[in-house]
Amino acid sequence: MGFGTVGRAVAKILGERGDGDGLLHLTHICNRNFERKKQPWVTERWFPTDAVWTDDFRAVLNSDADIIVELIGGLTPAEELVRGALNAGKSVVTANKQLIARHGPDLLQLASANGCQLEFGASVAGGVPVLPALRTGLCGDRLHGIAGILNGTCNYILSRIETDRIPFSEALEEAQARGYAEADASEDLDGGDARAKLSILALAGLHVRVSPGDIRARTIRPIDAVDFDYAAELGCTIRQISRADLKETTLFADVGPSLVPTSSPFGRVQKNLNLVLTSGEYGGDMAFLGAGAGGDPTAVAVVSDLMFVAEKLAAGSSSVGSGPHRPLQLASPEVSCDFETPWYLRFLVKDQPGIIASLAAILSSHQLNIDAVLQNPGFDKSALPFVITLEPCRDAQLHPALQEMSALPFALRPCLCLPILR
Ligand SMILES: NC(=O)c1ccc[n+]([C@@H]2O[C@H](COP(=O)([O-])OP(=O)(O)OC[C@H]3O[C@@H](n4cnc5c(N)ncnc54)[C@H](OP(=O)(O)O)[C@@H]3O)[C@@H](O)[C@H]2O)c1
Repeated sequence: MGFGTVGRAVAKILGERGDGDGLLHLTHICNRNFERKKQPWVTERWFPTDAVWTDDFRAVLNSDADIIVELIGGLTPAEELVRGALNAGKSVVTANKQLIARHGPDLLQLASANGCQLEFGASVAGGVPVLPALRTGLCGDRLHGIAGILNGTCNYILSRIETDRIPFSEALEEAQARGYAEADASEDLDGGDARAKLSILALAGLHVRVSPGDIRARTIRPIDAVDFDYAAELGCTIRQISRADLKETTLFADVGPSLVPTSSPFGRVQKNLNLVLTSGEYGGDMAFLGAGAGGDPTAVAVVSDLMFVAEKLAAGSSSVGSGPHRPLQLASPEVSCDFETPWYLRFLVKDQPGIIASLAAILSSHQLNIDAVLQNPGFDKSALPFVITLEPCRDAQLHPALQEMSALPFALRPCLCLPILR
């Protein structure tokens, strides 16, 4: 269901690998106004003659197909379709991040209650098999932390600013011209996309129920070339990092631009790649790197899920009550963004005597310790960017000081505050 970028690529892979092992057989292609989707390569080269083109979801749900592949995206009508399929005892494979971030726990329960499977390996990090790894290869560990570069658009923009020291606006325009960013890129830039993915990773890896709206998202829009100069002096670069740490009954979670060491795995991720790191009690740290989007890489994840489900069905393990998905025991922790880290504060001021003294007085009144002060020469004194780094402190301790500092008369903009992740 949904014959767009990913749907077409799934059909292509299924067609090219053929039905040799008899495991997968394409029965329907369902899309609104499907006539315009019938390109010659589709009908002539790849499809079995009995594959039905339709725009009628009910016809597919009422057919004897065992697995529904939902590649429409969004919540409407995808949610209704997926619920309908699971209620009809059909397993579902989807790449739909919004649907799983919003309704994943309920849909997993519904799948389990109906003795069928719900797989969503392509919904986070596209072709990078991190969700299947959480489901199988790492399920023997007890994970307590997941962190990632989950949004290729942000990573493309930040790594372009880093490489050529171009302004943010120019990097965004370039990303839009190359098709890496949408005309309205707010979901990407302001962290909405990444926090939905983080909530799915937390569901699958940390077994917690967390709504994307409960995860703080910070925008990358104020980052500029000068921040990469100052970050470099600290041995760091800047990336949009999504992180979730489970500590007892609290899930610490945050999405936003952060300083990371240039030589670290995160610091080396360029362009629109994705990287996910997991931390487990027994197995330690693991890394997953690759193409986070694109029709073909995403379709690989969809077809892999399809094969997994088909093998389970062929093995006859989907009877009600003994279904392949045991009901997940999900915790509902308190969600907090109150991480304790060192901080990078970048100010943009109209220069005058006494600025550092005023800032230091506010910081000290909040018991905050300065680690370093960085000011490069050569800037126009009417708009001077300089940086103060702080020794580790909690977000909640820093926040009131930031408000006071941003209200000072020489501040041209609110202070840019980024965590330093060592
Ligand atoms: N593209 C990627 O790189 C990528 C990566 C990871 C995950 N995903 C996820 O994969 C899913 C599909 O993405 P995509 O890029 O393939 O999207 P897409 O190119 O927009 O394809 C969606 C398809 O669904 C059809 N459709 C939309 N609304 C419909 C409706 N109400 N009834 C029937 N058909 C409908 C569209 O038909 P029309 O042609 O008429 O619009 C289109 O053919 C989404 O959940 C997306 O988040 C995509």
